[in-house]
Amino acid sequence: MLSNICLFSGNANRRLSENISNNLNVPLAKSLVSRFSDGEIRVKIEENVRGRDVFVIQPTCVPVNDNLVELLVLIDALKRASADRITAVIPYFGYARQDRKDQPRVPITAKLVANLITVAGASRVLTMDLHAGQIQGFFDIPLDNLYGINSFLEYFSLQGFIGNGDIVIVSPDVGGIKMARGYAKRFGSALAIIDKRRISPVSTEAVHILGDVKGKNAIIVDDIIATGSSLVEAVKALKNAGCKKVFAAITHGVLSRDASDKLQDSPIDEVVITDTIPLPPEKKRPKIKVISVASIFAEAIKRIHLAQSISILFDFIQQ
Ligand code: R5P
Repeated sequence: MLSNICLFSGNANRRLSENISNNLNVPLAKSLVSRFSDGEIRVKIEENVRGRDVFVIQPTCVPVNDNLVELLVLIDALKRASADRITAVIPYFGYARQDRKDQPRVPITAKLVANLITVAGASRVLTMDLHAGQIQGFFDIPLDNLYGINSFLEYFSLQGFIGNGDIVIVSPDVGGIKMARGYAKRFGSALAIIDKRRISPVSTEAVHILGDVKGKNAIIVDDIIATGSSLVEAVKALKNAGCKKVFAAITHGVLSRDASDKLQDSPIDEVVITDTIPLPPEKKRPKIKVISVASIFAEAIKRIHLAQSISILFDFIQQ
């Protein structure tokens, strides 16, 4: 049934690719991704892909530029090898933060990256929890944006935190309200919002909490944790406001600079991230828990291949 699928992995997150491959019971196809002596990326597809339905798995996480170029070069090689259809599976879509011209003389880098992926030869894109919904419109090819919420719901249900009425879902800033509303609805819980004022690109200050959080267990939801500033400020504000335990459910663990230490040293009880981005040993901390979204990607790949609806995987968010 899935025999015409061809799965390729770049170097960005091989473990996730292997998990997706195991879930689908489709082996990873052979490719050689190495370097020329000056650091340029060199790719060779080592299997016949003529007429195949190809999926290339590569999040554009750190090292962002290398991983992005590797994805582009892989797609180009597959196109020139006559693959029938190429889906760029980008579990974490980087370069998403410059998504509009909000100041004079700034680029819209997310649009530039969308153009690059399309020109390289991708037929469609599969990703998860895009930083901004409008990025879908930057592509003139189909894009499916999955959501990590089901994995988080399963995790927190197993911990016994769902359905007992004392959970409040918290958005760490006003921009995250839509995502948090989706979680609150799905978790059957209350909603609160942190009125975050950003002081500089690397530090934030949480000012105000909108909603009732006293005596509740809070789950802060967000798409990205980068420096950890937004999250740590939110946690402090929630604890000061009388929250019992504070957790975070954050899809993409970018965890730049000293973010892991900052979280470990903060009053947060647990930060749950997914494996869209690999967590290297030096960033592991007891308070950081990783859950896998491999099965969601595997299901989406299967459904795309079989031309079945995948809206069942994210219907709730549009309600
Ligand atoms: C903001 O719009 C995002 O959803 C995240 O809250 C933000 O990117 C996190 O950044 P940091 O961890 O550096 O505060």
